Amino acid sequence: MFKEVSLPLAFYNRDTWLKVAFFGVCVFMAGFSLYFTDGLVNKLEEREKQQIELYAETIRYVMTSDENADINFFFERIKKINENNTIPVIWKDGSGHLNSINIAMSESLSTEEKQTLLQSKLQEIIAENNKPIEMDMGFQKEYIYYGNSKLLKLLRYYPLSQLLVVLIIGFLGYIFFSYSRRAEQNRVWVGLAKETAHQLGTPLSSLTAWVEILRNEQSINPEIVVELSKDIQRLETITTRFSNIGSMPILKEEDLEELISSFISYLKIRISTKVHIEIKSALIANQVANVNKYLFEWVIENVCKNAVDAMGGTGDMLIYLHEGKNNQLYIDISDTGKGIPTANLSKVFAPGFSTKKRGWGLGLTLAKRIIENYHEGKLSIKSSELNKGTTFRISLPKPAVS
Ligand SMILES: Nc1ncnc2c1ncn2[C@@H]1O[C@H](COP(=O)(O)OP(=O)(O)OP(=O)(O)O)[C@@H](O)[C@H]1O
Ligand SMILES: [Mg+2]
Repeated sequence: MFKEVSLPLAFYNRDTWLKVAFFGVCVFMAGFSLYFTDGLVNKLEEREKQQIELYAETIRYVMTSDENADINFFFERIKKINENNTIPVIWKDGSGHLNSINIAMSESLSTEEKQTLLQSKLQEIIAENNKPIEMDMGFQKEYIYYGNSKLLKLLRYYPLSQLLVVLIIGFLGYIFFSYSRRAEQNRVWVGLAKETAHQLGTPLSSLTAWVEILRNEQSINPEIVVELSKDIQRLETITTRFSNIGSMPILKEEDLEELISSFISYLKIRISTKVHIEIKSALIANQVANVNKYLFEWVIENVCKNAVDAMGGTGDMLIYLHEGKNNQLYIDISDTGKGIPTANLSKVFAPGFSTKKRGWGLGLTLAKRIIENYHEGKLSIKSSELNKGTTFRISLPKPAVS
């Protein structure tokens, strides 16, 4: 079940429209360029064909004319046709001898070597798929084979290079949009958190004052006042968490095992008595980590509450502290719950993903954010097996010894 948390934020829609519009422009640019160059290629192809036809016609005329024809004039014309173009041409005469134009050959080659080279060039030209031009010499037929000019070849690849450019622009644009969307989301998170902390502050201080008045009131049962104070403390913790996530939180060196143990003692009272929580540590005594106590406790609370939910209120939890690779401190939180189906493994950290009736799907998103954005750490699923349990891993950088 994927429930989207609906935030009334018009700019997400605006972002989507911008993305669609940007994508549309990219597709249009690519399409237009393809269409335009295709037309150009066709025109050039036609023109090159006409040139070769003219060339063939001239050769045919020269070869079949009587002695009075001005041969020189025609040779000049042939030369003119071939000036400034790079169309490779091979003329196979009646005896099967190959003559060429615009095919580079070393002068030092023997006639036979030249013929062999031209044979292989001929195969290349045939592969380019231009139909040979037939010259009717009267007594026999001869053929002129021609390839594509350099310009035409280049032009054929041109749309591909344009497409590549459009793809690169599209890719960069996508990154830009995603980045700006994420930045906007960040601002919303931070803004909401700050505002919540701010709003809670005023009633909280007046509540504290009221409890002090009640404390001195003889007619009030002192147990009620104690319970009220606890609730106020709880509200204060929530306010502190919101105000910390709403600004760049200050990290302090904290004894990791001590911090987790004392928070778990606090949490234990609030969860089912049928959940057994054990803490094991392979860290050196008093190993510290740079954390913001309030936010870090929030992470532990979210992960542990999920574990309790997954076990349906009955089962064992193990919190194992040890040192990992690359100077990392690992906190592995394991449960004996129902596990996470493989299909959901990549979704559990997405905002709004929940399989619970009353879940918002925000707990893990928040926890990941706190660990990765504010503590330079990582929150991941180490392992999960259906009906056996799940282990979440928090890794934090080990502080350098000063
Ligand atoms: N230890 C776990 N075992 C099995 N599934 C888990 C575990 N932890 C998280 N999940 C799955 O991940 C989903 C998302 O967890 P997340 O904490 O983000 O939201 P939630 O618990 O559903 O709601 P809430 O916003 O109240 O925390 C849960 O709904 C659950 O399906
Ligand atoms: Mg949760």
